[in-house]
Amino acid sequence: MRVGILISGRGSNMVSIAEACASPGFPASVGVVISDSPVAAGLDRAASMGLSTAVVEPGEHADRTAFERKLSEILSAHDCELVCLAGFMRILTSEFLADFPGRVLNIHPSLLPSFPGLDVQRKAIEHGVRFSGCTVHFVTAEMDAGPIVLQAAVPVESGDDPSILAARILEQEHRIYPEAVRLMAEGRLQIEGRAVQISP
Ligand code: GAR
Repeated sequence: MRVGILISGRGSNMVSIAEACASPGFPASVGVVISDSPVAAGLDRAASMGLSTAVVEPGEHADRTAFERKLSEILSAHDCELVCLAGFMRILTSEFLADFPGRVLNIHPSLLPSFPGLDVQRKAIEHGVRFSGCTVHFVTAEMDAGPIVLQAAVPVESGDDPSILAARILEQEHRIYPEAVRLMAEGRLQIEGRAVQISP
């Protein structure tokens, strides 16, 4: 299965997926890495791994529809059947999602449905939760609300600041996102209602 990865910044999750894809026997490969910003550090990291890259800037398109159409066009031109949002800081509309039905994944740095949105490591600390973590989920038009594929929990320690907690969570992101891609590529994920069944 060919995967298109959408990024906006550092791209460490993109690297973790790309490294998994490069390992022997992994059932997916990276078709293209697309950034919505020309200065995303992840672009250089992708290029240095020999991956195809593209930049699609919202500001260079007449409207959101045109921006998303361009994303879709590039993904299709690279035969991508699965789209992975990896630190892609934009909400995609149902028009875009209709081009890849049930085939868009996202990673979010909290245990959804707790703490959707932004700055969630700070929110978790301020709320006083004892555990946080990360979630890979299918993307729907509602932000951070789609069916959950995999989660990993980490403790929130006293004295954590958002960057310490983010680093602890990121380590788990790099483990579960490639695993979710593998399950998807092996055809083992089935959406039932708002839950995801994983077949053995
Ligand atoms: C990751 O922690 C990811 O979970 C988060 O942004 C970071 C991107 O890091 N995504 C979101 O907050 C999406 N709402 P990366 O660019 O190094 O993969």
